[in-house]
Amino acid sequence: MRIAIDGPAGAGKGTLAERLAAHYGLPYLDTGLLYRAIGRLMADAGADLDDPEAAGAVALALTAEDLARDDLRGREAGELASRVAVHPKVRAALVDFQRAFAARPEGAVLDGRDIGTVICPDADVKLFVTASAEVRARRRTDELAAKGRAPDFERILAEIRERDARDSNRAVAPLKPADDAVILDTSDLDRDAAFAAALAVIEARRTP
Ligand code: DC
Repeated sequence: MRIAIDGPAGAGKGTLAERLAAHYGLPYLDTGLLYRAIGRLMADAGADLDDPEAAGAVALALTAEDLARDDLRGREAGELASRVAVHPKVRAALVDFQRAFAARPEGAVLDGRDIGTVICPDADVKLFVTASAEVRARRRTDELAAKGRAPDFERILAEIRERDARDSNRAVAPLKPADDAVILDTSDLDRDAAFAAALAVIEARRTP
């Protein structure tokens, strides 16, 4: 079984994808990590994130060690990722790796922005996991506050809106639900309820 999960930043798709992969015993690929690693490598090198050629070259040279870095989580790396992800050469360089992962004989779960539309258009199940920008910003704010930080809700909300706009409006592989995706709005769902809703969708697809 191949499960494609897409959606905007902070909608909870990573947590959901991980849980679904564990539940079904499937390998899981967080494709955002690829873009995050490229963003970090560009920033480390002092390269211009808006330079399509430079970003494309970094994408072609990406290694497993780059993906194992411990500084790929968090908003800063997400922001760098979103900027390099607009370049067609960056996206093209990552397609084969993602498709090979999706084609594993045992099946796979992938999450990202273009899994159901570009990487794995014939996935068995496509979920588009979303939530209002306010809810996503509130969750981020609460997460940071729980870690003892002093987050600024309005700033986080503005960043989320900016990232949504960049990911949705780029020319190549923009963030959008595939025509046959099931939309899962988690605005009013906690993690367990979102997981239960996703399972219900998948089981309904599996048992026609
Ligand atoms: O899912 P994430 O927050 O780790 O993704 C970070 C950024 O990477 C996201 O804002 C846009 C980009 N991205 C993408 O363009 N396509 C993907 N399949 C995954 C991520």
